Amino acid sequence: MDTQEIKKDFPILENRKIAYLDSGATSQKPIQVINAIEEFYKKCNANPHRGAYSLSIEATEAYESTRNKVAKFINAKHAEEIIFSKNATESLNLIAYSYGMDKLKKGDEAVLSIMEHHSNLVPWQKVAKVTGSSLNYMYINKDFELTDEEIENKITSKTKIVGITHVSNVLGTINNVKKIIKYAHKMGAVVVVDASQSIPHMKIDVQDLDADFLVFSGHKMLAPLGIGVLYGKKELLNNMTPFLMGGDMIEYVYEQDTTFAPLPNKFEAGTQNVEGVVGLGAAIDYIENIGYENIQKMEQEVLDYAKQELSKLDYLTLYMTPNKQNHSSVISFNIKGVHPHDVASILDGEGVCVRSGNHCAQPLMRFLGIDSTCRASFYFYNTKEDVDKLVNALNKAYSMFKKYIKLS
Ligand code: ALA
Repeated sequence: MDTQEIKKDFPILENRKIAYLDSGATSQKPIQVINAIEEFYKKCNANPHRGAYSLSIEATEAYESTRNKVAKFINAKHAEEIIFSKNATESLNLIAYSYGMDKLKKGDEAVLSIMEHHSNLVPWQKVAKVTGSSLNYMYINKDFELTDEEIENKITSKTKIVGITHVSNVLGTINNVKKIIKYAHKMGAVVVVDASQSIPHMKIDVQDLDADFLVFSGHKMLAPLGIGVLYGKKELLNNMTPFLMGGDMIEYVYEQDTTFAPLPNKFEAGTQNVEGVVGLGAAIDYIENIGYENIQKMEQEVLDYAKQELSKLDYLTLYMTPNKQNHSSVISFNIKGVHPHDVASILDGEGVCVRSGNHCAQPLMRFLGIDSTCRASFYFYNTKEDVDKLVNALNKAYSMFKKYIKLS
């Protein structure tokens, strides 16, 4: 498969002559996704589940058929185990509020990896404060990986929740979530997997992982902004109270009390982001058409080249595991002695988009003893030319800053 051909599917990459290296923040959208959203508004827009007329029934069909598609995509056993949300953050808040607040008690523990995005960390701080449970962390070794020893030391019989990112948004470390889940289950804990940075790049099979909860955002995997997914095992979701209350999530409403709708509606209050759901369906079709195997092949070639070229720049510090099989499409780096925001601004001037900052992972930054990094994140539409652009722009930035650099 030819990346130059693929690039033509992405109008923004044709219109703006940039090296877009920030797909970890949000991916660009192929024309097929953009067209699907336009078609929905032109031909089938109505409020799903609300009307007995055929247009509303068609909108319901577009919405619910995508739920089936998502279930198949991640191999969920039941379509009603798929809940649509705004993004991974909202899905994680739903789990923390509807499950964590209810099930955790004083003396219980939640265990998170130090690599968690704030979205899978701040809600658990709130749960710990309200319930009197405690929050413990699994730390990484010098290769930016979690060891079996660390996992087994931290997850104990007191652990009720384990929160783990599948792929770190800062380091690109791929965590062995299947192994962590197996161990956590042995200890009696429920596991919440954040798949936001993995699902764009690799096949997710929730039954094979035996994940209790798994969340992701659509916008990092070619879908529009504002649509997310929560997968939860049916028996867990059935025993949770709703997070948001309102229209369409109820069965009967009386003056003083309400009974709730069955899954999945119980967790989908109010009018939903139907265009987002339709776009997510088109994004899944696009990914499945290319195939994860091809996506990985294309990405790996560019990623290997990026690692090779960036490793030659001795003024850079790179933050990534040396174990290739445990590393996904993110490379964080710093020009020694230069603030990453300054570097990112120079790169921007050269048409190279990277993210700089703490990447919503302040505890990880503190653990690494740094404030921030620049981060180049790759997707299958990136090319070796994008890497060359990045390297040239970095050389330019370094030559501008080197006379001011004071290394301690
Ligand atoms: N979570 C997104 C990132 O890592 C926004 O950039």
